[in-house]
Amino acid sequence: MKKKLLVLTGGGDCPGLNAVIRGIAKAARSNGNWEVWGSIEAFNGILKDPVEIVKLTRSKTSGIHVKGGTIIKTTNRGNPLDFPVQLDDGTWTTKDLSEEMARKIAELGFEAVVNIGGDGSQAISQALFKRGLKIIGVPKTIDNDLSATDLTFGFSTAVQIATESFDRLVTTASSHSRVMIMEVMGRDAGWIALHTAIAGGAEVCLIPEIPFKIDNIIKRINKRYKKGKGFVNIVVAEGAKMESGELVGEKSLDAGEKHLKLGGIANYIRKKLEEKDCVYQVRTTILGHTQRGGTPVAFDRILATAMGVKAFDLVEEEKYGHMVSFKNNEITSVLIADAIKDYNVVNQDHYLIHVARSLGMSFGDE
Ligand code: F6P
Repeated sequence: MKKKLLVLTGGGDCPGLNAVIRGIAKAARSNGNWEVWGSIEAFNGILKDPVEIVKLTRSKTSGIHVKGGTIIKTTNRGNPLDFPVQLDDGTWTTKDLSEEMARKIAELGFEAVVNIGGDGSQAISQALFKRGLKIIGVPKTIDNDLSATDLTFGFSTAVQIATESFDRLVTTASSHSRVMIMEVMGRDAGWIALHTAIAGGAEVCLIPEIPFKIDNIIKRINKRYKKGKGFVNIVVAEGAKMESGELVGEKSLDAGEKHLKLGGIANYIRKKLEEKDCVYQVRTTILGHTQRGGTPVAFDRILATAMGVKAFDLVEEEKYGHMVSFKNNEITSVLIADAIKDYNVVNQDHYLIHVARSLGMSFGDE
């Protein structure tokens, strides 16, 4: 009888998730001793009654590596250790359902689990591993903010989408002699903003790691117009902070969602510039979830496929408690416990910061 492997995708979606799923399913088929199943909407599929799981057959996984999203769906409200439960009076609380879930996974005959997700999902993997679940992690985030891997799939696609949008904004900024502010994703790390700003050739790049002052942005705008260049392009990460540390966003009203819903920093900066009598017209574009949707670029398909195959290899080797990682151009693995310790943020001494400053780009800090 074949052994059963459960796969799930958790947290925000990301181009490349389907390529990982296909990589795992194909490697398992080549091996011949396993059948692969998917839990719908992260662990929620297991927790539901009746369970929502699907066998990842050849016909279900064929050709999916080119598709965005995830065929087994995802959620950022599926933490089995802190599961949102609605009380009779309509209010919400959370409950630890991990024991019930582990029991159900065993009853369904699953030998092991592969959890494809970002830092939050991998923290869940580690907690479940400590409770005895045989689990392997695969890192996922367009923000590229996991320290245990040099790159995550989805990031290159997000940078490509943002750069294409930036290029379009340059021509319209130039026609109207305007200041264009383009907001990209990046909650804690400014990697998407930094790469896009360099790829596109921005004058100003604002990232969470370098607090900015409006006066410094105005200084850079004026310098550029004085030189006779009649337009300015700014890239700002959604998590960029003023010197006071303020973030722009709203408290999420979704049950079980603890994160601040970021978004709006571009408009916030526009208002501040206008209040300071910036004489040039300012327009804003918020790219939002377009950066997460659609087909992955070739590099992300390759990275995601390789990570899927590696995840299956780790299952075969019984290296439970490990997460797949891409380090020094090799696909390898690290302990999940180590992977969730630190964020991969942009350090001031990163070579791309030096490159950007050498090009005359302002980070709003001077
Ligand atoms: O973690 C990736 C990310 O893209 C962040 O940059 C962003 O703040 C967040 O997801 C938004 O996720 P959602 O809209 O799914 O809550």
